[in-house]
Amino acid sequence: MDSFLIQGGTPLRGEVTISGSKNAVLPLMAAALLTKDTCVIRNVPDLSDVRFMVKILESLGADVAFEAGTLTVRCARIKGFGDYDLIRKMRGSICILGPLLTRLHEASVSLPGGCVIGTRPIDLHLKGLVALGAKLDIEGGYIRAKTKGLKGTTIFLGGRAGPTVLGTANIMMAAALADGVTVIESAACEPEVCDVANFLVSMGAKITGIGSPTLTITGVKELHGTDYEVIPDRIEACTFICAAAATKGDVIIHGARPEHFAAVLDKLREAGVKVERKAGALRVTRPGKLKPADVTTLPYSGFPTDVQAQFMALMTLAPGISVITERIFESRFMHVAELMRLGADVAIEGPSAIVKGGKPLSGAPVMASDLRASAALVIAGLAAKGTTQVHRIYHLDRGYERMEDKLRKLGAKIERVDGE
Ligand code: EPU
Repeated sequence: MDSFLIQGGTPLRGEVTISGSKNAVLPLMAAALLTKDTCVIRNVPDLSDVRFMVKILESLGADVAFEAGTLTVRCARIKGFGDYDLIRKMRGSICILGPLLTRLHEASVSLPGGCVIGTRPIDLHLKGLVALGAKLDIEGGYIRAKTKGLKGTTIFLGGRAGPTVLGTANIMMAAALADGVTVIESAACEPEVCDVANFLVSMGAKITGIGSPTLTITGVKELHGTDYEVIPDRIEACTFICAAAATKGDVIIHGARPEHFAAVLDKLREAGVKVERKAGALRVTRPGKLKPADVTTLPYSGFPTDVQAQFMALMTLAPGISVITERIFESRFMHVAELMRLGADVAIEGPSAIVKGGKPLSGAPVMASDLRASAALVIAGLAAKGTTQVHRIYHLDRGYERMEDKLRKLGAKIERVDGE
């Protein structure tokens, strides 16, 4: 397993371009299952999760080409039975269930996996499909779904922790070819969900209320091919901003859409980080000392759970106390113990992490436990004195395109070490 070797202490300086969004492209790829025509998806990041999804689509019979950031997917003849082991390994794969069921009236997929950040149930996905008229059985690790034809209805998709991102995408895709009108109440409003909706509209779907908690989908008989560009990855943008701020650097970020992460920008401002809009780009500097800031993760447009770990890494450097509360996933503090190896002072109290920041970090070997935890450890390693080795960066490769290359271009001393 590969690791990163980081010599910390160099301020990041230069320019970086943000890649396409992982969490948008995965359901978009699933949406390509809804048509026999060719779908061209542009600005696709080269990530292990994307390559996984390519394999899943191929195992269903799709023709897929992935070259220079462009995916061409043709699902002319597909089957509804996915490869158990492929699907099991990736959370995003649950999104194939809605499209397969609505197009083929029968689908069988394994229960999905993903990062270890909580129990991650799929009850809301299943509730939505049942409401549309699916009959479901869970047997031998598979979800087996059948229908005589999905029918539009009103579905409330809110759960214990609020709306569901992939659940909304899944039900929206299923409803796109259902008979009649489906209303999704308490729909997720994340930019990635809007991207899926816009992709579907570009295929001929009828959807209103995009970006609001009430989505109305009027089913159509057929969808057609499309040529579509994925939105930039707001989580990658926030990760680079935190890295620039942690190293007291000066970085220009190209291709990001700041309106997609206003809550993070607001907290960064409070923490003493300057993010200026300049000719379509963002310039990140940190004129003075970092200040502590309290953060609570919430559904969009609140502070995203996917930036919680990276922001915590930054707050370990801010003199004073920051309280970071995680409201979306119950076990998303796996990075805390590893940050403490670097000298951070963090205590977990229920859903909150109390960060006593300001002590200098010093390099150490650490272990990545999930995607965003890995990013947090890289940020801390870049700011720490001495050498940090981040083990198990395959987690990071799931969601960051060539992260070490991008960081090296900004002057970071980081290299990938091949592991056995
Ligand atoms: N939930 C349920 N039942 C469900 C589905 C979700 O109770 O059927 C709960 C979850 O346990 C959680 C909350 O609802 O407490 C929100 O989960 P959500 O369904 O929105 O998460 P997801 O769709 O499975 C996506 C991203 C995650 C991101 C979350 C929240 C993808 C592939 N994953 O997951 O991304 O954290 O939305 O924004 O899109 C990441 O990129 O690092 C990552 C984990």
